[in-house]
Amino acid sequence: MTEWWKKSTVYQIYPRSFMDSDGDGIGDIRGIIQKLDYLHELGVDILWLSPVYDSPNDDNGYDIRDYYQIMKEFGTMADFDELLAEIHARGMKLVMDLVVNHTSDEHEWFKNHPDFYIWRDEPTNWRSFFSGSVWEYQKERGQYFLHLFSKKQPDLNWDNPELRETVYEMMRWWLDKGVDGFRMDVINMISKVPDMHDAPGGDGSHQFLNGPNVHTYLKEMNKKVLSKYDIVTVGETPGTTPKEARDYTAAKNQELNMIFTFEHMGLDQASGEKWDLKPLRLTDLKENMEKWQHGLHDEGWNSLYWNNHDQPRIVSRFGEDTDWRVESAKMLATCLHFMQGTPYIYQGEELGMTNVRFDSIDDYKDIETLNMYKEKREAGVPHEDIMVKIHAKGRDNARTPMQWSAEPNGGFTTGTPWLKANPNYTEINALQHNDPDSVYQYYKKLIGFRKELEIITYGDFELLYREDGDVFAYTRTWNGEKLTVYCNFSENTKSVARPEGEVLIGNYALHLGEGDVLLKPYEAIVYYQQ
Ligand code: NOJ
Repeated sequence: MTEWWKKSTVYQIYPRSFMDSDGDGIGDIRGIIQKLDYLHELGVDILWLSPVYDSPNDDNGYDIRDYYQIMKEFGTMADFDELLAEIHARGMKLVMDLVVNHTSDEHEWFKNHPDFYIWRDEPTNWRSFFSGSVWEYQKERGQYFLHLFSKKQPDLNWDNPELRETVYEMMRWWLDKGVDGFRMDVINMISKVPDMHDAPGGDGSHQFLNGPNVHTYLKEMNKKVLSKYDIVTVGETPGTTPKEARDYTAAKNQELNMIFTFEHMGLDQASGEKWDLKPLRLTDLKENMEKWQHGLHDEGWNSLYWNNHDQPRIVSRFGEDTDWRVESAKMLATCLHFMQGTPYIYQGEELGMTNVRFDSIDDYKDIETLNMYKEKREAGVPHEDIMVKIHAKGRDNARTPMQWSAEPNGGFTTGTPWLKANPNYTEINALQHNDPDSVYQYYKKLIGFRKELEIITYGDFELLYREDGDVFAYTRTWNGEKLTVYCNFSENTKSVARPEGEVLIGNYALHLGEGDVLLKPYEAIVYYQQ
């Protein structure tokens, strides 16, 4: 089978926040159908849908109650089938979110197949990703069940062969329907060490990340399911090194096509806790991206991302979202999209959407944020100090409604949105997408280059100006061709050597002339030598 996904660009949709077609304030499948032409015009090849399955929404669909049903608020299976057909009619593909590390506690398995879950007589001291213990006591059984996420998300026991077969059967059902692949939620957490025990600081991750049988189970899944279809798979795998990433993604290993790594998302964090903020040092980012570019160059494959539904908006994070919003959004896109790997765009990124700052905790909906707020307040941390963390890192930054127009709520809904819109929709919205200078049109060009220029897919990566704290610069070389990418992550004017070749793209009026290139604030410029 060809590795078509190496030349693809993926667009992630968070259905709850994308487009509401019926005025109930919640995005839905018919809303997505309405916007397919917008996505097709952008040029993306693959749409990844965050979960659309039946769910009580403790974690917005990442807690699945029934893998074979569509969430009522999102529509019906007939709507889904129409969506799939409409995506295929436009030559695009659809990737489903596969959440099988855990289910909802309202899944019938939890009642009728308790052996599909993980039970212990004694809890360990591990802390959940969503605060509190990972163990919840169940009176009837007199035992604790494991939940790495919320207590309504019990972890599945992958050591049970019957569970694995049941999951594979469900995957086949969706693939037989014609979906084109899976994004696998925290798939490197499915295998826990048999003797789970207390861990320093309650961080049990060494006992469940990339656990003892994960590769055995993924190979089995590949053999029994994935290998039978021409699809794409991407695993979400926090805490993974390039070596482990090669194990997951090298073609010869027959597991996954690519994974999401997290190291670059942790560089503005001072400790193991995501809320422990520290400013990004650009040299750390450069070094890290270089490590991954080299680490997966000959074996395995990278996914490239700045944003998703769990991360704050990149323009507010590594860019500058007031005076230089458009420039820095384009600069960040340039920096990522000329690297080797498959790029992922998260809804609204192509508009340069920004973080949101609600003053009241009542305006936030995300379970991770709300649990953290409660825990810190109880520990005496002042409201204002916690809000600084939420404004910087809260997942609702990514989940505010998509900004389609300057109409109320950004045109996302005619009703009351489930999460308030970012008030800046009056200035930042998709009405601008036809403007030749828009962030959208810039992304469109980047997506187009990946299809035209093989060097973007295959070229060698070399970092330039390693010590520079403002400029991220690199070359790609292949077959006698060369791309030189300059990205200024600062407001300082920076001087860099003029490379050979022609300017391919840039986010300012193009530099002509001779001598060094003077990079303006947040400037990105790419030279191409054939
Ligand atoms: C990772 C998902 O991306 C996130 O949104 C979710 O809360 C957890 N996994 C649990 O499913």
